[in-house]
Amino acid sequence: MVIEKLDNKGRGICFINNKITFVENALPGEDVDVEIFNEKKKYNEAKVIKYNKKSSDRACVDCKYYGICGGCDLLHMDYSKELEFKIKKVEDILKKFGGIEYKINEIISPNIYNYRNKATFQVNKKLGYFKKRTNDLIEIDNCLLVDERINDLIKKIKELDLINIEQIVIRTSQNEIMLIIKSTGKIDDRFSSLDVDSIVINKNGNYKTIKGPGYIVESLDEYKFIVQPDSFFQVNSIAAKLLYDKVLEYASLKGNEKVLDLYCGTGTIGSYISKYADSVLGVEINNYAIEDAIKNKKLNHIRNIDFICSDASNIDLTGFDIVIVDPPRSGLDNKTKEYLKTINPKKIIYVSCDPVTLARDLKDLSDKYDIKDICLVNMFPRTEHVETVVKLEKGE
Ligand SMILES: C[S@@+](CC[C@H](N)C(=O)[O-])C[C@H]1O[C@@H](n2cnc3c(N)ncnc32)[C@H](O)[C@@H]1O
Repeated sequence: MVIEKLDNKGRGICFINNKITFVENALPGEDVDVEIFNEKKKYNEAKVIKYNKKSSDRACVDCKYYGICGGCDLLHMDYSKELEFKIKKVEDILKKFGGIEYKINEIISPNIYNYRNKATFQVNKKLGYFKKRTNDLIEIDNCLLVDERINDLIKKIKELDLINIEQIVIRTSQNEIMLIIKSTGKIDDRFSSLDVDSIVINKNGNYKTIKGPGYIVESLDEYKFIVQPDSFFQVNSIAAKLLYDKVLEYASLKGNEKVLDLYCGTGTIGSYISKYADSVLGVEINNYAIEDAIKNKKLNHIRNIDFICSDASNIDLTGFDIVIVDPPRSGLDNKTKEYLKTINPKKIIYVSCDPVTLARDLKDLSDKYDIKDICLVNMFPRTEHVETVVKLEKGE
């Protein structure tokens, strides 16, 4: 089979008896023998059993779990080709789902490996990740994507007794490490020898701190942000700062603007841009995130930012010059889009982790807003995912 092109997940596409077949770990131009592992009415999913001809875009895969654990999708692709793939993927999706033809000229890419500040390990006597598409555990000694301090720590954790432990989450900031241990039974002091700043036990969703303050603090430039055991924080802190810099560039604030930061999480974007604006209001549905946002405001001595806990579609405020939206993968709901059109800001900056819902939303906003620029941030290198930042301005 000759691979014709890539799908939006980075899988090779070929046709078997005229049926589209998605092949993992296969690049355009490669000639491969495949084995189908999932046969559906309209498509097949397959894996390569033999490479008859390999592509010059193929990279040397330096991970013994690749294709088994499911964490990376693109390790087999030369990194420069990954960047090209992501640009084309977003351009294709914007066209297919939004009817938008746009040439993307910029992809920001600060780090390729060891970028993740959070890793979730499953535990069942052994410690590892789930095998792709299963709940079977594959033991892990080292992961190319996580902060090196996480790799060092798992070696030490694996020497300990892991009885009664279901899952271990490790979160890092520039200077701190936190361990969140999901347990089914008693935890004694077996983790006390580990050199970490906080240890939190999670029993049925109830958190108990057994070492340190029970949170860590991440710094982005001059700003500090509290990261609680279960709070959202971008998994790649270096890329997050560059993403926020791009938002700031697109906002081109003069100092007199009232900014609405919709889906603000713990207030990171709003806080980061606050010193350049007249005022910022952050809106977020999760009460715990809002509590952290208020703590972050105090920690950073920011006076001109406020937060409200609400569903984005339920707020009824006007008078904003710029609106920043950073919704979850589902994108903006219809009510929120109508609300945005009602408050009629000069500019909307849309930060998206899902190009399909982004395309739909840009199309829905297109009667009032024109796309002025689009930039990608490679927040998750070696995976199929990418963040998109769009600058929209009110049409003439
Ligand atoms: C992608 S995160 C953005 C967080 C933040 N901007 C950041 O960079 O850290 C999306 C946030 O939207 C919040 N959210 C989800 N649905 C929402 C809704 N209907 N209204 C308001 N916030 C919502 C989630 O709780 C989450 O914190």
